[in-house]
Amino acid sequence: MKDVKKTEVAFITQNKHKFIEASGLLDRLGINLIMAPLNKMEIQASTIQEVATYAALEAYEHLHKPLIVEDAGLFVKALNGFPGVYSSYAFTTIGINGLIALVKGKKDRSAFFEAIVAYFDGVELKIFSGRVDGFILNKPVGKNGFGFDPIFSPKESFPKSFAQMSTRQKNKLSHRARAFIAFSKWYTNTVNYT
Ligand code: IMP
Repeated sequence: MKDVKKTEVAFITQNKHKFIEASGLLDRLGINLIMAPLNKMEIQASTIQEVATYAALEAYEHLHKPLIVEDAGLFVKALNGFPGVYSSYAFTTIGINGLIALVKGKKDRSAFFEAIVAYFDGVELKIFSGRVDGFILNKPVGKNGFGFDPIFSPKESFPKSFAQMSTRQKNKLSHRARAFIAFSKWYTNTVNYT
C-alpha cells in the first residue's frame, strides 16, 4: 500500500491564535497547515468574502504554493451588523469596552461570528464559510483566546464566553472551525494524496 503523506497547505496569518485553532483541527483531519506569516492584504470591501478572496489571490503572487487566507467578523444584530467587515479596525480602535458601550441598554444582544476560508492553488479558488450564533455579554469574562472572545458567548454554551474555553472546546463550536472543517471535507475528497 502507498504511504499516505499529509499534504501541506500554507495558512497566511500573523495571528498565532488563529493558527493554533486551525492547525490543531486540520492535523486531526490529515492536513498539515504551515503558518506563513506574510502580511495579509486587507482591501476595503463590503463583505469578508471579498476581503478573503482578494487576499488569497494576492498572497499567491508571493508564495506560489497552495494557500489559505481566512477572514472573520463579528456581526451584532442591534448594530445592524456592525462591526462586521470592520471588526479588526473596531477591535484596535474602540475595543471590547467600546463594543460593550455600543450595545448597552439594547434588549437584543444577539450576534454572530462568521469566518471565510479562501483556498487558492494557482488554478482553483474555493471559498468556505462558517458561522456561530450567540450573544454579546455585559462584561468581558475569561482569559483565553483573542479579539472579542471575552464578550462573545455561543448560544450552545451560554453564558460561557469563548475566552473561558480551551482551544478544543472553541473548535467544537466556532465559526473558524466550521469553515476549516468545510474546507477539509472538500480538500480531502478532491486533492490527490501522493
Ligand atoms: P480578521 O480580520 O479575520 O483578523 O478578524 C477581524 C477581527 O475580528 C479580529 O481583529 C478580532 O478582533 C475579531 N475576531 C475574528 N475572529 C475571532 C475569534 O475567533 N474570536 C474573537 N475575535 C475574533
